[in-house]
Amino acid sequence: MASPHSIEIPEQSTVDGKAFPLVWAAAAGETSTDSLCAWIQEHRDTVFEHVQEHGAILFRGYAVNTPEDFAAVVESLDLENMPYIGGAAVRNKVAGDKVLTANEAPPSEPIPFHHEMAQVPNPPMYLVFCCDVPAADGGETPIILSHEVYRYASETYPEFMARVEELGVRYVRILPEEDDPSSAIGRSWKSTYQTDTREGAETRMLEQGTSWEWLDNGNLKTITAVLPAVKMEPRTGKKTFFNAMVAAYLGWVDSRNDPSKAIVLGDGSPVDHDAMMGIAGFMESTKVAVPWIKGDVLLVDNHLAMHSRNPFTPPRRILASVARGRRAATAGA
Ligand code: FE2
Repeated sequence: MASPHSIEIPEQSTVDGKAFPLVWAAAAGETSTDSLCAWIQEHRDTVFEHVQEHGAILFRGYAVNTPEDFAAVVESLDLENMPYIGGAAVRNKVAGDKVLTANEAPPSEPIPFHHEMAQVPNPPMYLVFCCDVPAADGGETPIILSHEVYRYASETYPEFMARVEELGVRYVRILPEEDDPSSAIGRSWKSTYQTDTREGAETRMLEQGTSWEWLDNGNLKTITAVLPAVKMEPRTGKKTFFNAMVAAYLGWVDSRNDPSKAIVLGDGSPVDHDAMMGIAGFMESTKVAVPWIKGDVLLVDNHLAMHSRNPFTPPRRILASVARGRRAATAGA
């Protein structure tokens, strides 16, 4: 079986001498989903070594045409799937229990950079995206290496970043009782905590160290435990900007939420507006935005790379799967 080969694409960048993302193209005659799955099964360690080396791998040129095809690719990676508990976005299941639609937020709204579920205590290690329907215009899923963001932030705003590292952050969000697809953060508390009852939600929140307040109209205000916003990544020895600060500060806006109040330092003090805007600007100028082609599969190491979403002209359907880690590596954990 022929291996995929590394190709260069114009949108790619080079960070610390490495392609970002790494792009692997199908070999001629080996473009079926079955071929991709068989190759991944044979070379799984190679795949994960490369995603650690590069932060993200784009598989291009394979006929991953349906949600079921994508579910098969996810299966071949042998990941330990995780439920999407605590995330902010409205998502729908489309194939089995592993494949969801990516954020259903309104097309006109960009989704700022974040690590997936950075606001919960045990974020996923891997994300897998697949392009089912490319947008007529826009709709890329831009990515950026988190250690680059940390490097910029700590060099440009050393005092603020020292406080962020010392104090950590808390995320504040008001959740509706029912899903609100008109909002990028419209996921209801019922979906978020996968329960129909207040008691069920409270049990989950206690587990996560989240404080809460029940509001009028069935809304729920949540304040996370103090979470670290900078992490030392043990596999690379580099610090990462491991948080959803910019996403919260710029993006957590809807009829219920004021984004300027969505993130505070661990002691409750406000974040530095200039630093937040400067970091957001760096992300914007440094990001890699590869236009989606139908069948593209993007494997992202969620501890090394952040992702975002550009606005788009519908229709667009990007599928996503969220994984705690590799199954073998996490067995018994
Ligand atoms: Fe995301």
